[in-house]
Amino acid sequence: MTVTIVGSQLGDEGKGALVDLWGGGADVVARYQGGDNAGHTVVEDGDEYKLSLVPSGAVRDKIGVLGNGCVINLKTLFSEIDDLRERGLTPDVRVARRAHVIMPYHRVLDGIEEDAKSDSDLEAGTTGRGIGPTYEDKVGRRGVRVGDLLDPSVLRDRLEYVVPQKRALAENIFGVDTSEAFDVESLFSEYRQLGKRLTEEDMTVNAGEFLNEHLNHDSTILFEGAQGTSIDIDHGIYPYVTSSNPTAGGAATGTGISPTVIGQGEVVGIIKAYLSRVGTGPLPTELTGTDEALADHIREKGGEFGTVTGRPRRIGWLDIPMLRHATRSNGFTGLVINHIDVLAGLDEVCVGHSYDLNGEEQFTIPATTERWAECEPNLRSFDPWDSVAWSDVATEGYEAIPANAQQYLEYLTNELDTPIYAIGVGPDRAETIELVNPFDIDA
Ligand code: GDP
Ligand code: IMO
Ligand code: MG
Repeated sequence: MTVTIVGSQLGDEGKGALVDLWGGGADVVARYQGGDNAGHTVVEDGDEYKLSLVPSGAVRDKIGVLGNGCVINLKTLFSEIDDLRERGLTPDVRVARRAHVIMPYHRVLDGIEEDAKSDSDLEAGTTGRGIGPTYEDKVGRRGVRVGDLLDPSVLRDRLEYVVPQKRALAENIFGVDTSEAFDVESLFSEYRQLGKRLTEEDMTVNAGEFLNEHLNHDSTILFEGAQGTSIDIDHGIYPYVTSSNPTAGGAATGTGISPTVIGQGEVVGIIKAYLSRVGTGPLPTELTGTDEALADHIREKGGEFGTVTGRPRRIGWLDIPMLRHATRSNGFTGLVINHIDVLAGLDEVCVGHSYDLNGEEQFTIPATTERWAECEPNLRSFDPWDSVAWSDVATEGYEAIPANAQQYLEYLTNELDTPIYAIGVGPDRAETIELVNPFDIDA
């Protein structure tokens, strides 16, 4: 049995909180894409954990796997593991030998390319973690994989081929001076050491084999998506996207578990009750101009500052065409609606129900971002709900949710024709109202 958790919007929908909640019922929690561009927050009895690579199941003592579809900055990974150990946890993290390694030159090149694009409005506002350049090298068949770090001669061969190319790119194309991030010898000695630590801690696995073994022994797997559908490299708002597939298909290619197995399980879409966005690009329902004060209020109340970079997030009303697109491309079997507490106490709550594009009503996102930028949202207004004692509501259950918020939830489940499995009314594990636990659903 598998449950796949997918971001429905632009990332930061509260995936970590749900992975933590349902991770209690899983044996293994596996990431299938992305790297330390992710920032997933887990709050347990007021203790907050911000995780960028260690799967969020670590807080529940589950085996965490970083699948072959991930890109891995080993320095981030080890420092996160060390920090968690200092806080008294014992994270058990396994890393796919097929996963690609983010090298220091990838991070430098990420920054260089964003700078180069900044004059032309093409910059994605990346997290600067080297994600795009690492996936480029994977697809270009010149990447360094985790398994390569375990074999000195393979590692040396890989570096001797790729590093001079990267140095030439930085120096000759972008005119930037390079440092030891582009030096074969220093990279070799540093990454051999990291490889040795992986071996000493017995952390590397053949992910597909490891995970399938678990399934054969009736274990349950929770797949933890990072980012979100609208920043998917294929299904998102290209080029303002990340470089991987957060959508549900990525769980198969990014772990080695067959799509037929994943399709027999549950695929749950995580939705924030409004929009927030750390990167660049159009955003039809964004609250700007005369609505700026409202955006400031929601940003402060929702703590909408990037987990990874601390950047203030842009704020908008919920975008229903975006959610129709996400529901279709992921095949959601259930939904989670988070942050309804943040919308409490407003004068009115709106959603972008559809778009107007050159006089025609559109119900889903156009395939090109230029057309998306031309879309004007047709807003639908909902009666507001008051702030209440949300932790009491969480204890009492759905019926205790203010009636107007219930109407908002019912509109969503009807529009997306998908049942709601849980509702987030605060960041803590205890502040999620669970209606259905996907692990309790028989395939
Ligand atoms: P992720 O990247 O999807 O895991 O989400 P982040 O952790 O980056 O951002 C979500 C933020 O909202 C975190 O600070 C969570 O603790 C918090 N959060 C999650 N669910 C809720 C909710 O229902 N209400 C409120 N107020 N905060 C929530
Ligand atoms: P989680 O898992 C929100 C955004 C960046 C940028 C674009 C490309 O916490 O939801 P990248 O560094 O990936 O090349 O940046 O994607 N982005 C995210 N936005 N949440 C995330 O992760 C994100 N990961 C990347 O802001 O616009
Ligand atoms: Mg996040």
